[in-house]
Amino acid sequence: MKQTSADSRMTVSGKRILLIISGGIAAYKSLELIRRLRERGALVRPIMTAAAQQFITPLAVGALSASHVYLDLFSREDEQDVGHIRLARDCDLIVVAPATANLMAKMAQGLADDLASTVLLAADRPVLVAPAMNPKMWAHPATQRNVQQLQQDGIHFIGPMAGEMAESGENGLGRMAEPLEIVASVESLLDGGEKPLKGRRAIVTSGPTHEPIDPVRYIANRSSGRQGHAIARALAKLGADVTLVSGPVSIADPEGVKTIHVERAEEMRDAVLDLLPADIAVMVAAVADWRVATSSDQKIKKQPGDAPPMLSLTENPDILKTVGHHAHRPTLVIGFAAETQNIEENGRSKLARKGADLIVANDVSPESGIMGGDRNRVKLITRDGIEDWPDMDKNSVADHLARKITQMLETS
Ligand code: CTP
Repeated sequence: MKQTSADSRMTVSGKRILLIISGGIAAYKSLELIRRLRERGALVRPIMTAAAQQFITPLAVGALSASHVYLDLFSREDEQDVGHIRLARDCDLIVVAPATANLMAKMAQGLADDLASTVLLAADRPVLVAPAMNPKMWAHPATQRNVQQLQQDGIHFIGPMAGEMAESGENGLGRMAEPLEIVASVESLLDGGEKPLKGRRAIVTSGPTHEPIDPVRYIANRSSGRQGHAIARALAKLGADVTLVSGPVSIADPEGVKTIHVERAEEMRDAVLDLLPADIAVMVAAVADWRVATSSDQKIKKQPGDAPPMLSLTENPDILKTVGHHAHRPTLVIGFAAETQNIEENGRSKLARKGADLIVANDVSPESGIMGGDRNRVKLITRDGIEDWPDMDKNSVADHLARKITQMLETS
């Protein structure tokens, strides 16, 4: 296990990353991004725009990156040191985090009026952009036009995510992706390695489902979608053709994966069945077991003196079980078991009941911090026995599982 745990980090080790930090409150997260990249052995060379320096200091960026921080297009020292053209070329990947609406507009137009925009115009390396801005700025047709242009130009995107904005408390799309999500994208962009799952089709479900009570209320659960999204990304990294069917989550669609967004369990089931046949199905979603039998078309109003409404529940389709017993059953069917007690016993009975080849069982008791957290500790239950994996971050669990899937397919 230790051996392969190092593997997922190898992709970044020794790679040279040019990190462009533009001016936004999310710039504070770039400090952690630098730490996470360096932890994995990357060499980080930072450029800061003038606006970025209003949010974090070149001193902090320099200390964390252990590198000179490039600030000015017309700095004689910097130009003598490497020069802006070499800065643009002397790296394996350029990451722009945070990317403001302004910098993206300049990139889309090919403007070069400061060091960051000039380097981006001179670049011939892959560029990954992590936008961060107010939701209204992101949704503005001008920004959306620029994003489309940049995508056409081959620029890669991670995020933005939904969630609360640090400065205004507003909700919506615009929050920068978390440092670890950016790192995962960096890894997948830099990974030109082997593709043992090339030619294999995979379906992954992820996130919670929302079961409506009325147009404004729903039943949900605490799943963040992190583990499922990481698995989709990990399978794609190994060359699989992956479609992710995601419930409502506030994390970004993974790089290199086709994502279908659904709300309800029944929609998720329909989307999954439409995708058959496939070689691999990994059902990670925390599908609601029940839905409201007759959800109301109108908002249920509270009338003075009335008793609270009674919700009558009905069972949702079991997607894993349906796929596990389907005429076009994928070669490998994998389920998750979220347990708070008797993990092994419950995992084994799920394996048999749902017609799965492998159940990834995890302890989601509140003390474990797994639900919604970054880390996971899992047991793999197959007909042949149990493998107990050590505590790892969810991306590493995903990488290991993708390798395990490769082995299982090879021997099936
Ligand atoms: N699952 C599914 N469709 C459902 C319920 C669960 O596809 N309607 C899948 C999940 O994606 C997961 C596995 O089944 O891979 C186990 O889900 P879990 O909720 O832990 O198991 P249940 O069968 O609902 O059993 P219990 O609620 O008794 O723990």
